[in-house]
Formats: sequence, C-alpha cells, structure tokens
Amino acid sequence: MEIDLTLIGMEKGMQYETIITTTDEKNIPNAAPIGVLCSGRDMILNRIFKGRHTLENIISQREFTVNITHDPELFTLSTIGNLPSDYFSNDNSIKGADAYFKCEVISLKEAVKQSDPIRKKGEAIVIKSKVTDMVIRREVKAFNRAFSCVIETLANFTRFDLVDETKKQYYLSRFTECSRVVNKVGGKEEKQAMGEIKKELIKKGYEI
Ligand SMILES: Cc1cc2nc3c(=O)[nH]c(=O)nc-3n(C[C@H](O)[C@H](O)[C@H](O)COP(=O)(O)O)c2cc1C
Repeated sequence: MEIDLTLIGMEKGMQYETIITTTDEKNIPNAAPIGVLCSGRDMILNRIFKGRHTLENIISQREFTVNITHDPELFTLSTIGNLPSDYFSNDNSIKGADAYFKCEVISLKEAVKQSDPIRKKGEAIVIKSKVTDMVIRREVKAFNRAFSCVIETLANFTRFDLVDETKKQYYLSRFTECSRVVNKVGGKEEKQAMGEIKKELIKKGYEI
C-alpha cells in the first residue's frame, strides 16, 4: 500500500507513542513502547537509551516494525516484560495492532539532547529510518500524549479551589510536568491550551 504516515494520523514534527517490535540475531521477537518522531511522510526518528533490547536489535538487524495501537494491555505487557510469543505475527508485527509499518535504518547517532528528566547526555542513540512498508488493519490515529496531559491538567484545575494548600502544590507540580510533556510532544493547540490554564493559575496568585 501507499507509504504515507499521515494515513495513520502522524504529522511531521510531532511525536507519537508506539510499540516497536524487533528481532535478535536468533530471530527471537521483542516488543517495547518507544516514542516515534514523524519527520516526513516516510521518515521517522527514534531516541532509544543504551541497554534496551530494542536498541541492540535495531543496531544488529538495521530494521524494525512500528505498531500502532491504543490497547493498554499491549503497552503494559511490553513495558514490564516482553509480549508472549503468540502475540507476534509471522512478519513480527503485533497481531492486535491496528496498523504497523516496517522501517529500515538510515543512520545511528549519539544523542546530545539533555532535556530528559532522568538521563544525561550521551546515553541514547538517535535513529533515523525510512518507512519501507505499511499495513492498516483498522482505521487508527497514532497516539500523542499531549492531549491526555491537557485533559489531566483541566481535571486538576476544576478541583483546584476545592482542595487544601498541600494538594494545590501537588496540582501545580503536575501542571509543570504536563507542560514539559506538552512542550516536548504537543502541537500548537495543546501548547495554547496549557498557556491558557497557566494564565488562570497565575490569576489565582500562583507563580509557575
Ligand atoms: C509510552 C512509553 C514510551 C517510551 N518511549 C521510549 C523511547 O522513546 N526511548 C526509550 O529508550 N525508551 C522508551 N520507553 C521505555 C522503554 O519502553 C522501556 O525501557 C522498555 O522496558 C525497553 O524494553 P526493551 O529492553 O525490551 O527494549 C518508553 C516507555 C513507554 C511506556
């Protein structure tokens, strides 16, 4: 089928949460949630920390599969361990994924970005890849975390006047974290929404 990431809702410059499946040199499958930055209709970037199986497999095999799903079980199982082998299709996509695309590595570079909250410079590799095949099983839009952050911030905002000072400080720290994520992965609309909520919090007398 036509290779065009906009068909699964992926826009250039935006980051999406996916599950990447890889194989090792013995053809053993592995799955892990990994962010995908869309850099064109058939180009993506990943930043993967050293020590992950996914990174080792991508370096050794120079190819991988990006699975698009909104299934919390698939994300959870592949985060806390590996997916059982019967979750993988013969082509190493996840059977339950709504869509998937295959990638070939173009380049691997040491990451220099330092904005990650827990990691430092030089501990990750940025992978540039070309999409070589695409399968859409069901209509789906790749998941972007920014909208969830806006909704969570709004839910906290509606409770803000009802809670004590300790809880207010907790909501403000959540606001700061959600803003960080929105600035990193969100689009114009989500950034604008967070800016509007920030103004309301400032009106209430809080510095953020
Ligand atoms: C939603 C989500 C997105 C993630 N994105 C990344 C990422 O972009 N890069 C990365 O190195 N780890 C990322 N992780 C963490 C890895 O998925 C996690 O460390 C996983 O256990 C790695 O498994 P592996 O060793 O089988 O590759 C993410 C985790 C989640 C839940």
